[in-house]
Amino acid sequence: MTSAEARQRFPVLAHCAYLNAGSVGPLSSRTVEAMHAAEVHALDHGRAGASIWEAAAATETRLRQQLAAMIKVPAEKVVLTTSTTEGCNLVVTALHLRPEDEVVTTNAEHPGLMLPLIASGAKVRQARVMERPPGEALKAILDEVTPQTRLVALSHVLWLNGQVLPLAEIKRETGLPLLVDGAQSVGAIPVDAIVADWYTVSGQKWLCGPETTGALFVHDHESLRPQIQSYAASARQDAGRLALVHMGQPMTAGLLAAIEEFPEWGLERAAEMVARCRDAVVAAGFDVRTAPGQATLISFRIPGDPVAIVKGAEAKQVVIRSLPDGWLRASVGWWTDQTDIDQLIEVMLDASR
Ligand SMILES: Cc1ncc(COP(=O)(O)O)c(C=O)c1O
Repeated sequence: MTSAEARQRFPVLAHCAYLNAGSVGPLSSRTVEAMHAAEVHALDHGRAGASIWEAAAATETRLRQQLAAMIKVPAEKVVLTTSTTEGCNLVVTALHLRPEDEVVTTNAEHPGLMLPLIASGAKVRQARVMERPPGEALKAILDEVTPQTRLVALSHVLWLNGQVLPLAEIKRETGLPLLVDGAQSVGAIPVDAIVADWYTVSGQKWLCGPETTGALFVHDHESLRPQIQSYAASARQDAGRLALVHMGQPMTAGLLAAIEEFPEWGLERAAEMVARCRDAVVAAGFDVRTAPGQATLISFRIPGDPVAIVKGAEAKQVVIRSLPDGWLRASVGWWTDQTDIDQLIEVMLDASR
């Protein structure tokens, strides 16, 4: 499959520079067909019955295997979830943190991780990574570690600027339990989740799966004491016992179809295109806060109201987002091509005039 052929699988790309996979990725025709086929099967044959449960279990097994291969961990250590947010809540609540405990995170975390940390009641210490170059992130994080630290919890890729955090070094230098929010990394950059104790996956972003799909890698499921449980806890012996929600067939079939379509050249192509996008944004004279050689998000600023700029761009078939701190963000995937980048620059130059 060439990149031109791959693009044709996503109908939205025929008329739109879709640059917001960091929120929700584009859907391919094949993914929607897989979801639809599951719905039609349910319509014709019902949604329960031995053969239906067997088929559902086979799809789940295959999906766990594919997700595990993607993040390089054993399949029996992967739990299907509805989101990164669910994965973060599951882990944080199962740790039973106390007010005298401390958690080290960064000052650039998404609420999907930050709110569960705050709700835990532990003291949350935020390393100031946003104000520093990527090479100083490790030191900023280590500076927050104290003898009271029970958990290090942070994103692999920061949603505000696309910066990649050095997970292996963080784990090696702290030796502490490490929860990683993988919402902006899985499907965007190479991931070796085995360096973490827990690593979340969002299915709807860079994997281009259905919304409300995801996964959680759990290194040692027996070390967690979950405070929320489901039928899976009595029916399974591996990490799958932590599953909270039985995912409907359209969701699992859709995510599986999306992952099976992921091209082997996808990560390389994404890296090439994001470098081109960053160069173009810099060349256009915009203020850029994403360092070179990071992940697949480019954060930049142009004069004007960011919310109005995003709305105006959408009317011209360019989809990006504004961030809570007023910066703009473009998401570049393996499906992005030069015409998308050219269109982004043209529309942003127009908006800044
Ligand atoms: C870094 C980060 N974490 C968590 C989330 C939330 O992901 P989910 O909707 O899968 O919970 C997002 C994006 O929405 C994100 O960018």
